[in-house]
Amino acid sequence: MDVFRISGGRPLSGTVTVGGAKNAALPLFASCLLTDEVCRIENVPDLSDLRYMAEILRFLGARVEQLAPGVWEIEARNLSHRAPYDLVRRMRASVCLLGALVGRLKKAEISLPGGCVIGPRPIDLHVKGLARLGCLITTEKGYLHVDAEGARGKSVFLGGRHGSTVTGTANLLMAAVLTPGLTRVDSAACEPEIADLCRHLVAMGAKIEGIGSPTLLIEGVQRLGGASHRVLPDRIEAGTYLIASAMVGGDLIVEDVRPEHLGALLDKLDEAGFRIEAPSHSSLRLSPGGSCQPVDVITLPHPGFPTDLQAQMATLMAITPGISIITERIYPHRFMHVPELQRMGADIAMEGASAIVKGRSGSLSGAPVMASDLRASAALVLAGLAARGETWIQRIYHLDRGYERFDAKLRKLGADLERLPDTEMPADLREAD
Ligand code: EPU
Repeated sequence: MDVFRISGGRPLSGTVTVGGAKNAALPLFASCLLTDEVCRIENVPDLSDLRYMAEILRFLGARVEQLAPGVWEIEARNLSHRAPYDLVRRMRASVCLLGALVGRLKKAEISLPGGCVIGPRPIDLHVKGLARLGCLITTEKGYLHVDAEGARGKSVFLGGRHGSTVTGTANLLMAAVLTPGLTRVDSAACEPEIADLCRHLVAMGAKIEGIGSPTLLIEGVQRLGGASHRVLPDRIEAGTYLIASAMVGGDLIVEDVRPEHLGALLDKLDEAGFRIEAPSHSSLRLSPGGSCQPVDVITLPHPGFPTDLQAQMATLMAITPGISIITERIYPHRFMHVPELQRMGADIAMEGASAIVKGRSGSLSGAPVMASDLRASAALVLAGLAARGETWIQRIYHLDRGYERFDAKLRKLGADLERLPDTEMPADLREAD
């Protein structure tokens, strides 16, 4: 397994181009199963999660080919309705196949995804949505069996105790576009990745109104055709680079960004004292605007502050003088980065689903740390870039799931960071796996 070695304290300068959004590309791949015609998806990030999704689609019977970097063609003529445990367990996001199989084949058998390091991740709302359409659903031996032969459009309220559900909305959409009648989804997720999926579905012939809003109206059609779609830029990758820039300074331009998708982050960075400029309509640059202030953050469904940037923001607050409170409303247990940041010198106390961060400039010093999930790992990289001395990060395969060429991009911007086989990590720094 590879590790990162980072020598902190270097500013980041130059231009970094953001890739396509992982969390849009995954359901977009699944949506290609809704037709027997050819679909083409462009701007697909080169990530292990996407390569794995391609493998699952092939297992189900689709032809999946990468034509050029970022360009994939998917053709699902014959399709199996069963997604087995050994495929689904490796990637939780594969649950987004459920809606596609239900829509296209009117039946699905999919292994229930297990828990996840960021906390419990139930799919009760996905099930509730499909059941509301009249699907017959049973659970047996760890599999969800769905019979959608009698399904008809209905009104569905999809909100739960943590707000809307992103993949639950994607699943209901993909089932409803090929279900007769009018489906109305209230408390639908408004994440840009859902709007992106809707646009692809519309290009395939689906009838959807209210795209981007919490109320979606879907008029079922008999069949969908092939289409081409370009995946929207990854707002979380963009946000991660902006926070990195806030932490280490320099002159960094983040290119291929939709600022309108980053409103909550940009507002918090502004409140924290950073100046944000837009050198062009699709790029952003951050510069210090005087003294930096601590800010409180609460994660919420879009357009609120994204949970996927919480760990990175907590890391910025660890070196910003003063006290800030970072509260998780989406995944109350998503604080695996905290013990690792504490090992690097951060002063953070946990109080329920809130991290109380006592920020201090220069508080971070390099240490050997362990990556746990994708965004916690990104936060450790940012901490390593800002820390004094050397940081070693183990289990970086988490990063490869969601940040395209993270090490290469950061190196190009001036970071002193390398990817090494773990055998090159000093043995006394290695933690037991
Ligand atoms: N929830 C339920 N019941 C459900 C579904 C969700 O209670 O049936 C709860 C969850 O436990 C959570 C909240 O609702 O508390 C939101 O979950 P959601 O379903 O929206 O999350 P998801 O679709 O499983 C996607 C992203 C996550 C991102 C969340 C929130 C993908 C593949 N994953 O997950 O991304 O954190 O939305 O924005 O799109 C990541 O990229 O690192 C990542 C974890």
